[in-house]
Amino acid sequence: MVSEKDDIRILVIGGTGHYGRHIVQALIKKNIPVRVLSRNKNKAQSFFNDQQALEIMEGNVLDSQILEKCISKVTGIIIAISAFNRKTIRRLRKIERDAVLKLLHQASQQKINRVVYVSVYEKPLPDVPMKTGKIKYEVEEALEKSSFDYTILGAPPSIEIFFSMIRGGKMRVPGGGPSSLPNISPIDLGEIAAQAILRSNLPQKRYRLAGPSAPSFPEAAARISDVVGKDISFTKIPLFPLRVAAKIAGGLSLIMPYIAQLLPFILLLNSFESEIALQVAEDYKILQDTFTYSSHTLEDHAQMWINREEK
Ligand SMILES: NC(=O)c1ccc[n+]([C@@H]2O[C@H](COP(=O)([O-])OP(=O)(O)OC[C@H]3O[C@@H](n4cnc5c(N)ncnc54)[C@H](OP(=O)(O)O)[C@@H]3O)[C@@H](O)[C@H]2O)c1
Repeated sequence: MVSEKDDIRILVIGGTGHYGRHIVQALIKKNIPVRVLSRNKNKAQSFFNDQQALEIMEGNVLDSQILEKCISKVTGIIIAISAFNRKTIRRLRKIERDAVLKLLHQASQQKINRVVYVSVYEKPLPDVPMKTGKIKYEVEEALEKSSFDYTILGAPPSIEIFFSMIRGGKMRVPGGGPSSLPNISPIDLGEIAAQAILRSNLPQKRYRLAGPSAPSFPEAAARISDVVGKDISFTKIPLFPLRVAAKIAGGLSLIMPYIAQLLPFILLLNSFESEIALQVAEDYKILQDTFTYSSHTLEDHAQMWINREEK
């Protein structure tokens, strides 16, 4: 169990990613020695200002020797890896499942006990059709059956999804999105994951990370408009052409693997039930009762977004 601060060293796998970067920053802020594995050391260095407590190890998670090196002398591991992009989608299973399970196996041999795994919002069902869901299910099962002192963090879409759909003053959303979208600030996720890995009194369980609010896309557009002081109009892009494209890409998944995985994801995003808003309120209360953090709202992120846009 992690106890004395001096003895702590945390390995973050995926520490340069959208969520991982904030996890590393939160650990650095707490003066916790952190090791990050990245395929590109220079790129990784560019993400972090204060690098005193940071060690960046260059390498690929698919390399067993690197795995062995990067777990050496660490007291806890945070896994926030993703291969869900155009370049690595063909190796999704190798990177997100096989390498992660190998890492866990090697960690247990080294008697590393504490693991935090950043997964998807809901634990997927075993027969989920999406490859990425099936992988998350398998890794979560492995953790649940292991002797690790683990915490699973169920990540919803980042709050940044609302801003990523805005171009030229218009928010364009395929399918229009659900009536309530669970989401979290990556800054809050970073803080929660950092606290989780350092806590020795958390029950072995899964937390859904969401809140404080779960707006629809049109509601988000209106709230962002209020902050930035200009109208962000909302447009729904019809899903029908996407459904057809998803069908074709599914059949052609060998030559269009990214599209084949991405389109079902958009369809899933549109299928969130309206009751989810109530669930998010419960999730948020549990998080506030368990972790100490002041959450970043859509308005906070709108301010950060406009500052970035104006640069
Ligand atoms: N982003 C979201 O909105 C969202 C929503 C729901 C769930 N999640 C979950 O959150 C977790 C993190 O996702 P993310 O979106 O933050 O990831 P991301 O931004 O796509 O970052 C991917 C990370 O994985 C690392 N990586 C990929 N392949 C690697 C390899 N072969 N060897 C070593 N490192 C490798 C990358 O490191 P380098 O490039 O530096 O090597 C990078 O740090 C995932 O489990 C994802 O499913 C994310």
